[in-house]
Amino acid sequence: MRSISGAAKLAGVIGWPVSHSRSPRLHNFWLEKHKIDGAYVPLPVHPDHLGDVLKALPRMGFLGVNLTLPHKEAALRLVDQVDPTAMRIGAVNTIIFTSQGKSIGSCTDGLGFLENLRQYADGFSSAKGPAVVLGAGGAAAAIAFALQEDGCPEIRIANRTPEKTLALVQRLGGQAKAIAWEDRAQALAGSALLVNTTSLGMNGQPVLNIALDHLPRSALVTDIVYAPLETALLADARSRGNKTVDGLGMLLHQARPGFAAWFGLAPDVSLELRNHVLADG
Ligand code: ATR
Repeated sequence: MRSISGAAKLAGVIGWPVSHSRSPRLHNFWLEKHKIDGAYVPLPVHPDHLGDVLKALPRMGFLGVNLTLPHKEAALRLVDQVDPTAMRIGAVNTIIFTSQGKSIGSCTDGLGFLENLRQYADGFSSAKGPAVVLGAGGAAAAIAFALQEDGCPEIRIANRTPEKTLALVQRLGGQAKAIAWEDRAQALAGSALLVNTTSLGMNGQPVLNIALDHLPRSALVTDIVYAPLETALLADARSRGNKTVDGLGMLLHQARPGFAAWFGLAPDVSLELRNHVLADG
């Protein structure tokens, strides 16, 4: 058991509920590995209290926090400063408290998504061709903006609720195209990347139904769902010869900028970390 001193650096994750979050496991693995005098704790905070808590934490010595459901959008309005990427996405998942007590919000989900593909898909480039993004929620926004900023020539968004598809497509502008949910299989023609950002395929959720016949064999397929690690979509894609990357690495990579800012060291995403985060208890 690792022990910490009275001068330990402090950070944590705010959620409601927060008990499902894997972030404490992840950050404490890095703290232990690098023998850093610090702690990363789960902070269950009701939405009504988020503003008060964000004011109190820097006064208690916290260097920053991550935010998970349902706080990512609300936090955007509660921090003193929002970086341009988080502003475009409309969500904050990482906050740094400055020594003057100011809070600076950023969103590292899109970066985590790209870094995961860069680590696990050799030769990945957003510029290779059109991307098909299934879903139009918070994760879809982070991923679509990241792909756009990284040079993706066309982003096809397909979501069950068409109003949300259109809203995201309008926010993205130029390269984005709205696809009817019923047309998602046809939209795969000529694409270089397929991403599932919906909750379909997650343990306990309905499966994602999508025929891959139109998907070029050269296309990369990835899923933000990581429980199970190999979703039916990834298994299906792999069995027909497409390269696949699972969603766990996105969770691990989105955590790196916060850790680096709070604890002063850029940590690695290793196989050991993946196994540790996946293991129970
Ligand atoms: P997140 O922030 O993780 O993206 P979210 O905003 O709740 O979470 O988005 C969940 C996504 O999964 C949405 O795109 C949602 O589609 P709707 O916008 O139509 O709700 C999608 N989703 C969830 N259940 C679905 C289902 N049964 N069929 C199709 N899409 C589904």
